[in-house]
Amino acid sequence: MGIKMVYLMNELDHWETCYQNKETPWDKGEASPGLVDFLVDNSELKKGTVCVPGCGIGHDVLAWASKGFEASGVDIAPSAVERAREHASGKAHACSFHLGNFLNESPESPFDWVFEHTFYCAIQPDQRNDYLQAMLRWIKPGGSLLAVHYLIPDEDGPPFGTTRDEVFQRFSPHFELKKEWVPRSYPNRTGLERMFWWCKPL
Ligand SMILES: C[S@@+](CC[C@H](N)C(=O)[O-])C[C@H]1O[C@@H](n2cnc3c(N)ncnc32)[C@H](O)[C@@H]1O
Repeated sequence: MGIKMVYLMNELDHWETCYQNKETPWDKGEASPGLVDFLVDNSELKKGTVCVPGCGIGHDVLAWASKGFEASGVDIAPSAVERAREHASGKAHACSFHLGNFLNESPESPFDWVFEHTFYCAIQPDQRNDYLQAMLRWIKPGGSLLAVHYLIPDEDGPPFGTTRDEVFQRFSPHFELKKEWVPRSYPNRTGLERMFWWCKPL
């Protein structure tokens, strides 16, 4: 059964089945190149808390932790969380992983940062307002949303495509755009990604 066929199941079953069957083509075995460069280029940032929703096996969480941030990941698929914990065990920089539905839940305390990578494109497009509301709950006033968006036309996802304008129109009424740029990407996504650094007003 292909990945898109499985998505006819409910979302939890879909993602859990992908991880159990090791059908995870989005996982490149390393953190997002755009994030890696961002952390190098902004090494002076205050080291706060960061949450990575839809963290999968946790490469991006580990990248934040390796730079001194208190990093945690949230994923809806039990097998992803289990593998993320295994992958992170014994690494020099501590981080944590939690099983949950980022779109419905609220954090015990909101985060300084939320980092988005292949999560917005993974959910159903009609859940994008839930995603916005979740971001407003999970990020503290004065905190940041750092996002790598996948600008593809696909409507039969996941991944579901988006455009620069759709992203801007959804987030700009609620966040101040600090910067946007085309990041370095995995080879098969070169030129298809755009990063946005949003600040939630105080
Ligand atoms: C395309 S994968 C990307 C995983 C990871 N960001 C990466 O790049 O390797 C999407 C991830 O989002 C998770 N996910 C989907 N819906 C979710 C939700 N509502 N809450 C938390 N995680 C979710 C899936 O289990 C999956 O791990």
